[in-house]
Amino acid sequence: MDIKRLHGTMDLLPEAAARWTEFERRIRKVMLQFGFGEIRVPIMEPTELFAKGTGESTDIVQKEMYTFEDRGGRSITLRPEGTPSVVRAFLEHSLGAQRPSWKLYYIGPMFRAERPQQGRYRQFHQFGAEFLGTDAPHADVELIALAYATLTELGLREMRLLINSIGSPDARRAHDVELRKYLRDDTNWKRLCADCHRRTESNPLRVFDCKVEQCIDVVAGAPTIDGFLTDDDRAHFHDVQTGLKSIGLPYEVDVRMVRGLDYYTRTTFEIKAEGIGSQDSLCGGGRYDLLVETLDGPPTPAVGFASGIERILSTLEANGIELAEPPMLDVFVCALGAAAIERLPQILNRLRALGFTADGDFLGRGLKAQMKDANRRNARVAILIGDNEIERGQYTLRRMDDSQQTEIPADTDQWTAETFRT
Ligand code: HAM
Repeated sequence: MDIKRLHGTMDLLPEAAARWTEFERRIRKVMLQFGFGEIRVPIMEPTELFAKGTGESTDIVQKEMYTFEDRGGRSITLRPEGTPSVVRAFLEHSLGAQRPSWKLYYIGPMFRAERPQQGRYRQFHQFGAEFLGTDAPHADVELIALAYATLTELGLREMRLLINSIGSPDARRAHDVELRKYLRDDTNWKRLCADCHRRTESNPLRVFDCKVEQCIDVVAGAPTIDGFLTDDDRAHFHDVQTGLKSIGLPYEVDVRMVRGLDYYTRTTFEIKAEGIGSQDSLCGGGRYDLLVETLDGPPTPAVGFASGIERILSTLEANGIELAEPPMLDVFVCALGAAAIERLPQILNRLRALGFTADGDFLGRGLKAQMKDANRRNARVAILIGDNEIERGQYTLRRMDDSQQTEIPADTDQWTAETFRT
């Protein structure tokens, strides 16, 4: 067949899928520990949600969305991130009227039409958390601690936590003026790419995200936001840092880290891995005190983050950290001959009713091939059934680790869990 999976997407075969299941189990465990409840929102949403929420000036909205018209002529987008959907659901279900603050988490696929490379995919997966309803710096600390704890629970040790404050709208306005002045300066302007010319008009802070080398050079000399923060912004950032120190989380302040989304205010943060190449950002987040209002809701400050599952998994692999044990099978049934195969469904049924994981060979192959399979499947014991055994009314039970054999009755009614504890 000539049909292949789309570029930038992947299949998870059973071994990898088992790793993902274990990954998700650990994430859910930590989310629960921190008091976050799961929210599941649709994968497709009205395009307008991301245009308004993620922001018109972002690369995501400008060039990375999977957008199509549905049969009713509506513009639909496959979600590039989870935050706008969570806020939409928060408003649609009037959650704010029920409780003053909400801790919500999600796990699922996101879609961005980026150029695929190691660590960057078109369908990728995130887990994320959003804490809505408080502007307290301690909420930022709680979120950063949660992001860190999820990665620690997965076994990661070498991580760098970078934090910054991009201030309130007042600070941003003052910074924008100076930044535009700097970017429009003749020598700088000539060196900037076309995208950055556009960014200078729409949202000059976005120039900090540009990956073009000349632009990076220009940005290196640009005024940074830290010089423009208001007294309240500074106090907030100070309290976040005090909180991080109080729980012993090491961090670095990076005044150039502005993050590629329009909704952030004040705290932004990223957690980076060591030694996995250029796509080393495992987790990104920050405060977004105005997004709920942007989406026509009441004033509701919030803070959140999202982490990339594929990137974390490849970091774990690069560090030799195994997530899941290879699955074990309790019992493998070797059925040798037609009469044995006929009994297979009933035997497996009985074993499963006794609480065992059980499988057998339905192919009528020789003993050697079946034993090989039992080994490959990591079976603890095997039951061997051939014409001989059927005639004697006794099956052979073989312990896989040392090949020691005993007999068990063929009458499955006589079996208990004890029968197989060799
Ligand atoms: P983001 O920085 O766009 O933030 O994405 C968060 C993480 O998702 C990244 O650090 C990275 O690990 C992963 N990621 C992003 N794009 C890709 C891709 N193309 N392939 C593989 N992994 C990728 C957000 O999405 C915000 N919603 C985070 C947030 C939540 N802020 C507040 N609340």
